Amino acid sequence: MNNIFLIGTHWGDEGKGKVVDVLSEKASACVRFQGGHNAGHTLVIKDKKFILHLIPSGILRDNVKSVIGNGVVVSVDALMSEINELKTAGISLEGKLFISQNCHIILPSHIALDKAREIRLGKKSIGTTGRGIGPCYEDKVSRKGIRFLDLQNPDIFHKKLSSLMEYHNFLLKEYFHESPIEVNNVEDEILKKYEEVSSFIIDTDEYINDLCKVGGVLFEGAQGTMLDIDHGTFPYVTSSNTTLPGVVSGTGVNMGLIKYGLGITKAYSTRVGHGPFPSELKNEIGMKIGEIGGEVGATTGRTRRCGWLDLKVLKKSIRINNLSGIALTKIDVLDQFDEISICTNYGQINYETFDVQDLEFITLPGWKSSTLGIRQFDKLPINAKKYIETIENLANTSVDIISTGPDREQIIQKINILDD
Ligand code: GDP
Ligand code: IMO
Ligand code: MG
Repeated sequence: MNNIFLIGTHWGDEGKGKVVDVLSEKASACVRFQGGHNAGHTLVIKDKKFILHLIPSGILRDNVKSVIGNGVVVSVDALMSEINELKTAGISLEGKLFISQNCHIILPSHIALDKAREIRLGKKSIGTTGRGIGPCYEDKVSRKGIRFLDLQNPDIFHKKLSSLMEYHNFLLKEYFHESPIEVNNVEDEILKKYEEVSSFIIDTDEYINDLCKVGGVLFEGAQGTMLDIDHGTFPYVTSSNTTLPGVVSGTGVNMGLIKYGLGITKAYSTRVGHGPFPSELKNEIGMKIGEIGGEVGATTGRTRRCGWLDLKVLKKSIRINNLSGIALTKIDVLDQFDEISICTNYGQINYETFDVQDLEFITLPGWKSSTLGIRQFDKLPINAKKYIETIENLANTSVDIISTGPDREQIIQKINILDD
């Protein structure tokens, strides 16, 4: 079986969780490689909804291993709550969940710094999820961060934590004029929770490569290509590589073992948080898409901005992620529209005003009938097929999967991408 990676092609929330959940039926393992609990991946199984933030979306399957790779930043609080939620839902984790000892730990002071920085930025704020993601990755890159490995020795942890939080508290008090955070409480709390999760922590790189040699491993991206720290709409991005290089750096996998890259693309575009969004519809159509699509953030509950599919971004995503094909999600949300547009190109983006020059669109007739739950491509209305084929032609890609509703069963798989 193939090992594959799945990456959001736009600004996140493309339906990655749903597609990973569907594909995990035949998979052996599911691996997260970057981001943290800023992600919100929604799975719907027979009207029951699960939102996963940190644990890979394969966890609901009994025979699938779930691995949190070294590139993920982990809040032990968020990890514990998610583990407890899953346990309450009757999902076992023993022998199924593995977490890299090299993961950096998100501290309460990272969260305080993230929030303080946003307040200080005022109108120029990024609109982060306030989960401490940026400050934690900063400490990783500046080699001050604390990893699970450091927790094995309480003395080492004490020294590293005291020194790091002294610096955080200096920033909080002197620069942001916010209250400092008591180190002792943080230390006790983390050590207590570490005891509960330590059995899941291993050196994941060898384990992941061994799993890949057998096959059927899904690498599950978080966020999306335009939120990538290098390739996205900087500075309105997250602090990790959400794109293909993140798969490798965030797990240590030998790229030669991965045969297929799947882009997850929503049939229209959304963005949550601030920053440029060229194809945004600040009108009734945008509001209608958001209402029908239920476009409310799975992590922060914020309303997502909506617009037509951004083809320029899709092409870039296919290019830089070396995508083999795409999964087009949420086409059922467009069922009622008379006309559906695609943003095909634009010029310069002004990063002060977010204005965009020379926007170009093409418009196609809608299909005006329900696609909800359709499982065979041939059963799609002709105009829905034309919409899909137009995307394939313009972006020079193949739409291998089409999602026709939030439920696990509501999917068209044109090919089985896990098969060799
Ligand atoms: P992710 O972050 O990429 O995993 O996406 P989210 O879970 O944040 O957002 C996607 C939302 O769309 C969730 O509420 C899903 O249940 C829902 N969803 C996924 N696929 C479909 C689909 O094909 N049709 C509809 N109507 N909803 C979908
Ligand atoms: P999933 O995996 C959509 C956005 C935030 C903000 C920016 C930086 O569910 O697709 P951060 O807290 O990461 O420093 O915020 O990135 N963002 C997401 N937007 N989906 C996500 O994850 C996101 N994770 C972060 O809204 O604009
Ligand atoms: Mg999401």
